[in-house]
Amino acid sequence: MGLFGGLYKKKEPVLEPIDLSILQVDIHSHFIPGIDDGAKTIEDSIELISAMKDFGYRKVITTPHIMSDYYRNTPEIILSGLEKVRAALKENNIDIEVDAAAEYNVDADFPEKIEKKELLTFGDNYVLFELPFMEEPGVLKDVIWKLQSAGYKPVLAHVERYQFWHHQWDKFEDMVNRGVLLQINIGSLTGSYGPEVKQIAEKLIDNDMISLLGSDCHHMGHLEMIDSARTKAYLHKIVNSPKLINKKL
Ligand SMILES: [Fe+2]
Repeated sequence: MGLFGGLYKKKEPVLEPIDLSILQVDIHSHFIPGIDDGAKTIEDSIELISAMKDFGYRKVITTPHIMSDYYRNTPEIILSGLEKVRAALKENNIDIEVDAAAEYNVDADFPEKIEKKELLTFGDNYVLFELPFMEEPGVLKDVIWKLQSAGYKPVLAHVERYQFWHHQWDKFEDMVNRGVLLQINIGSLTGSYGPEVKQIAEKLIDNDMISLLGSDCHHMGHLEMIDSARTKAYLHKIVNSPKLINKKL
């Protein structure tokens, strides 16, 4: 590396914007109004979901937060919200399939929910779960084992965004070795969540460790991120990965 080698970023190629219809299905979003930090009103839900349809998705599986400290959502709350969203879409003649699961936070109440087998799933019994952003929870490995023993297939949400793993590559390998499917946010490829998040997402793609792409859309700002990710070489690379299962859901 030359004297100024570290100062200049390598210029990234800008490709033709990819048509997201190739993904077919989005599996991570917050489109049920008023129950988490996503859509606030049914009008928001309609605006966001119809923008997803315009991107080319044929189906969205929306995943409200379930978090004991902040969002005490239950399957009943989520599924009745889903019915309202479906009815509003029909009323507005927006033809797109909408389903719901949840984004489970690994918190003190999660193990009990697993034991009761009351989790909302998508596809082949997949459960989307996330970690707190501060540190790896001590119960993580136990929770993964509990999920798998109960017949669930764990999917770790936005795996590239956990700062506490950014300098511990073996953690990502360990997740894959345990049979956890890894999901990244499309927006991470733009650098909007920070340069380290982008770098990790790219390394995970290079190592063929990603099984699912998600929008993690809460508001229009996230859709703008996804729109700008469409020209990124890494998005072009991952959508053609045979490991990716979005379109099978
Ligand atoms: Fe999310």
